[in-house]
Amino acid sequence: MDYLTGDYLTGFGNHHASEAVAGALPVGRNSPQRVPYGLYAEQLSATAFTVPRADNRRSWLYRMRPSAMHAPFLPYAKASLLRSAPDADAVASPNRLRWNPLDLPADPVDFIDGLVTYAVNGDVAAGIGCSVHVYAANRSMVDRAFFSADGEWLIVPQQGRLRIVTEMGVLPVAPLQIALIPRGVRFRVELLDDDARGYVCENHGSPFRLPDLGPIGSNGLANVRDFEAPVAAYEDVERPHELVQKYQGQLWSTMLDHSPFDVIAWHGNVVPYRYDLTRFNTIGTVSFDHPDPSIFTVLTSPSDSAGTANIDFVIFPPRWMVAEDTFRPPWFHRNVMSEFMGLITGQYDAKAGGFAPGGASLHNMMSAHGPDVASHDGAVAAALQPHKIEETMAFMFESRLPFAPTGWAMKTPLLQGDYDACWTGFRKAQLPPGDAA
Ligand SMILES: [Fe+2]
Repeated sequence: MDYLTGDYLTGFGNHHASEAVAGALPVGRNSPQRVPYGLYAEQLSATAFTVPRADNRRSWLYRMRPSAMHAPFLPYAKASLLRSAPDADAVASPNRLRWNPLDLPADPVDFIDGLVTYAVNGDVAAGIGCSVHVYAANRSMVDRAFFSADGEWLIVPQQGRLRIVTEMGVLPVAPLQIALIPRGVRFRVELLDDDARGYVCENHGSPFRLPDLGPIGSNGLANVRDFEAPVAAYEDVERPHELVQKYQGQLWSTMLDHSPFDVIAWHGNVVPYRYDLTRFNTIGTVSFDHPDPSIFTVLTSPSDSAGTANIDFVIFPPRWMVAEDTFRPPWFHRNVMSEFMGLITGQYDAKAGGFAPGGASLHNMMSAHGPDVASHDGAVAAALQPHKIEETMAFMFESRLPFAPTGWAMKTPLLQGDYDACWTGFRKAQLPPGDAA
């Protein structure tokens, strides 16, 4: 067992090993003829068998019953607002869009039924793009578990702490932390507070990894050691459990006569993680201008084009602003990449209002955006002293593929009808008289 600290195994991408019962983990053979205690050996692959070693991901699970022991999946009985691309009702828009926070439910709703998809891109069957969901829930999942065959789930809690029970162990996560659940891993979301709301990036492409650091060097941004995987923990529960999966954009369900969280030991590098965003080592300018926001990348899902991400997960954390003679907020820009943003807490420094915690915005490929008038005028007039942006955490799912807002997202009253007004009222620049053509 490597780097064991307390109840967590630290280090992103490491081959970890953990056993909840002494002697359960086979030594030297992944699948011996007789596994200790009569456990069943099962390999979970997150990359194709033949992916080069540096990118290869798989774990071995040693469980009380094989996962294969289940009845057929049937279409999920309840209506769900989960979607993935292609979705006939989701049409990419060149317009800048922004949503007020998703309402917390009044009736009892758990994590699965509290999910709604805001935007999709790529193609789930082709293994490209992502689906962006928001959840709002007020009860724990009871005797049911979920997994996505469509991709890994990056869960970004915005309100309310969660206790995420997974096949590999238990991960508590709170706002300002994230959880990363690999494709296919079963999990159950329990609420530790009355309500919970947050964002999900369901990544259909290559698994998230840490970005290369280039000239930054061997430390910085999200450090390897700050990612925490759970130690093995299991349930020996024999009562009916519903197992719900997302498969090609649709939910399916089957019943088990036992808890699927019966993994006694495991080893490998397909593991769920949590990461505390406040541990992010934020890097910025100490002279003038400021770097592109890619300097704030926590995790990246590369595409086949170098440097052009399927998805980047980017945060805007508290930080010192010290640049001289510089427009300090995010500048006006038109980006070949597409940007879906959310706000966990505080205020984002490019907007004076309208972008609330739990809300969202979408600036698709080549849509012109940037600070609103109030933020612009304030930044131009400011006396530039060292200034700390505090108590804020915005984030962005940035993709090479334009996002298509779902039919729900375009019809919901949460969609702000006046978002474009952010960029009205800028004064025209004043040129010296003369040289116009
Ligand atoms: Fe932007």
